[in-house]
Amino acid sequence: MSGSTDNSVNSRRTFAIISHPDAGKTTLTEKLLLQGGAIHLAGEVKARGAARRARSDWMKIEQQRGISVTSSVMTFERTDPDGNTITFNLLDTPGHEDFSEDTYRTLTAVDSAIMVLDAAAGIEPQTLKLFEVCRLRSVPIITLINKIDREGRDAFELLDEIAEKLALDVSPMNWPVGMGGLFEGVFDFEENKLRLPEGDGKEYRGKVVSVEGANDPKLAEFLSPEGVARVAEEGLLAREGYAPFDYEAYRNGDLTPVYFGSALKQFGVTEVIDAIAKYAPPPRPQPSDDGEISPERDEVTGFIFKVQANMDPNHRDRIAFMRQVSGTFKRGMKLTPSGLGKPIAVHSPIMFFAQDREIADTAQPGDIIGIPNHGTLRVGDTLSENNDVRFTGLPNFAPEILRRVILKDPTKTKQLRKALDDLSEEGVIQVFYPELGAQWIVGVVGQLQLEVLVSRLSAEYKVEAVLEQSPFSTARWVLGPEAPLAEFERFNSANLARDRDGDIVFMAKSPWDVNYQAEKHTDLTFSATKER
Ligand code: G4P
Repeated sequence: MSGSTDNSVNSRRTFAIISHPDAGKTTLTEKLLLQGGAIHLAGEVKARGAARRARSDWMKIEQQRGISVTSSVMTFERTDPDGNTITFNLLDTPGHEDFSEDTYRTLTAVDSAIMVLDAAAGIEPQTLKLFEVCRLRSVPIITLINKIDREGRDAFELLDEIAEKLALDVSPMNWPVGMGGLFEGVFDFEENKLRLPEGDGKEYRGKVVSVEGANDPKLAEFLSPEGVARVAEEGLLAREGYAPFDYEAYRNGDLTPVYFGSALKQFGVTEVIDAIAKYAPPPRPQPSDDGEISPERDEVTGFIFKVQANMDPNHRDRIAFMRQVSGTFKRGMKLTPSGLGKPIAVHSPIMFFAQDREIADTAQPGDIIGIPNHGTLRVGDTLSENNDVRFTGLPNFAPEILRRVILKDPTKTKQLRKALDDLSEEGVIQVFYPELGAQWIVGVVGQLQLEVLVSRLSAEYKVEAVLEQSPFSTARWVLGPEAPLAEFERFNSANLARDRDGDIVFMAKSPWDVNYQAEKHTDLTFSATKER
């Protein structure tokens, strides 16, 4: 990438932030980018967050797309005191109600994640869902318990909740000296440092005191007697009561280091980004049909984890986001998409440096490249120099909401099919064509996707459609040996559909239905995910 001084694989960190809405992801992102010097105006990220919150109005979101394309990937750099430059690629996971497959798939393109929790709320439903996706791929997690400048829950209770709900070892790396009105600072166990608030806003502006340990009498110069006791007693309990940080356990996704902080007041921000630099894995080998592909492999390989339609609805241009797995990419290079079979020249790849689109000259494993195309690149496609690899493990997720698509003008069937195919390719929806009957079914994992679908059908494809309740509540891909599968198909055709790739899907009226069939057909698998 232009501007980068160190292009070795070890200097890259590709990560995402996972959280429940309002926990502070946008605020943390902004502070991270400011630290990295990538954005100059605080509020740029926030403006986007606010726009996103106007969720009922899809067109507003659409207008913001130019921004959201570039900020889906944010790259920033930092040089440590030893002069080593680390390039961070932060991938945005839309984590609000526009929660979709996009979000899940983005997590397939990262090597680690920061989990942000609100100190008053602990683990919330969306955090849990996103965490489960990370666990599927053993993505290591660094935790930030945010908003300690406000009244929160007891720190021990929060640590226990993470350990219990996520079945993870937790390792507190620092300790809040009080929360809310009692907040006096943060004690860093790793470096025996006390970070202190300054000014009316009680922000962290770099005031640090180095001490000998949690019992150093020097602490009394900076903290109230209660504060001193908190560091000494609570701190000791925390250190003794929880697992010490273990690098291997973290890397395997079995342990999460936990930092307390306040993104708003700049506490914990340096600590988490330092932790990403120090502990988080550089680009990892990726699973393929030919075993794991190492980032050290000479030939360029990568996979498409996201496709986004461009702003102008008159041009069906798309940008496909490729996570580079190996090799050194050079502009103009020819890569073969697995879905196409013949090479394409990548003349104008887009690199993402904060808010600006840059034409990239070179890119390294771990980097994300935006490839403009006219629909030739699909989510799940592998791109490679020699067309000799297929990456695996990029899942489709069973939709949680299913709707029947009813055309207002029945002569537009052909246009509707094209539109549904296109939009499912983009990952906006999944489409299921029932074996019996003519009413197509769309599936989504988040409600907003339905609004997006109706609006885009009308605006881009001139197809007016309404969505009706479907008799089904969930779908499962059915896999198994040929004979039992054929038998199953014969007896269940009223509940079967084909997805866009022609794979067979069981449409279930309830989760009970799925269990019943799974118990009855032990030789078949009813899968909630499908690898592409
Ligand atoms: P999200 O992207 O995860 O949805 O959260 P976001 O950063 O937008 O933060 C949600 C709200 O929480 C915002 O307040 C934000 O200012 C606040 N917040 C984030 N981090 C902290 C923190 O460490 N301490 C405190 N006290 N508040 C924090 P808002 O009122 O919704 O927005 P705004 O009016 O402040 O912009």
